[in-house]
Amino acid sequence: MSTAPVLSPDVAGAAIPRHVAIIMDGNGRWAKKRLLPRVAGHKAGVEAVRNVTRAARALGIEALTLYAFSSENWRRPEEEIGDLMGLLRLFIRSDLAELVRENVRLRVIGDFRRFPADVVKLVEDAVGRTAANTGPILAIALNYGAQAELVRAAQTLAERVKEGQIDPGQITAQAIEAELETRDLPPLDLLIRTSGEHRLSNFLLWQAAYAELLFVDALWPDFDGAALADAVAAFAQRQRRFGGL
Ligand code: IPE
Ligand code: IPE
Ligand code: MG
Repeated sequence: MSTAPVLSPDVAGAAIPRHVAIIMDGNGRWAKKRLLPRVAGHKAGVEAVRNVTRAARALGIEALTLYAFSSENWRRPEEEIGDLMGLLRLFIRSDLAELVRENVRLRVIGDFRRFPADVVKLVEDAVGRTAANTGPILAIALNYGAQAELVRAAQTLAERVKEGQIDPGQITAQAIEAELETRDLPPLDLLIRTSGEHRLSNFLLWQAAYAELLFVDALWPDFDGAALADAVAAFAQRQRRFGGL
């Protein structure tokens, strides 16, 4: 069994995080503060997505992963789920051209095929249209849950053992990582959550093993390019040790 460490610290180039993930939380509270319906907060949240993805490109971040819909968000009222689907449609229609033009590679993590058929098609087309791009990755987490991701990885590897393709000893950290949906992305450096909540809500549990965590009080619609630059500056001040000294 391999004992090579799966976490490869890149101490030298630590200033700009290669991969930033954001739990975009607080849309509902943003709307409530303004006595607006929750959907108004989600609409404002889309504008924040636009600003922050542009800022991420300007900062030279290689991959940005945004938590847009969790596998637990199905517990919300049907009307709100419908509003979120509507905004996803709107975002793809309005912003895909810019992503194509800016050489962004759009990706999805999560079981998005459970979404309405037209959204699935729209998302698949959008991902396809950016597939030949070579620039930064924008990964959107849609119906994503880290536990389900790990369960699927375990099942895939168990199947391989059953088929006699691998031995149980070959189920290493690397083998599990190769089954995760983030397999093509750089290691997660920085995980941000907005709105003052201090939890991961089933997001990138494996990938966060050695990520720097940053919890900010700003509600997601108020988070902008300057806030991302502040987050990156805070990251640059962190001392990552990966268990060493
Ligand atoms: C985050 O904002 C957006 C999604 C989960 C889709 P919320 O809708 O969770 O906003 P709060 O937490 O209720 O303020
Ligand atoms: C996490 O936010 C999911 C997304 C941002 C998409 P939630 O608002 O759903 O998380 P909890 O329920 O407060 O943990
Ligand atoms: Mg929330």
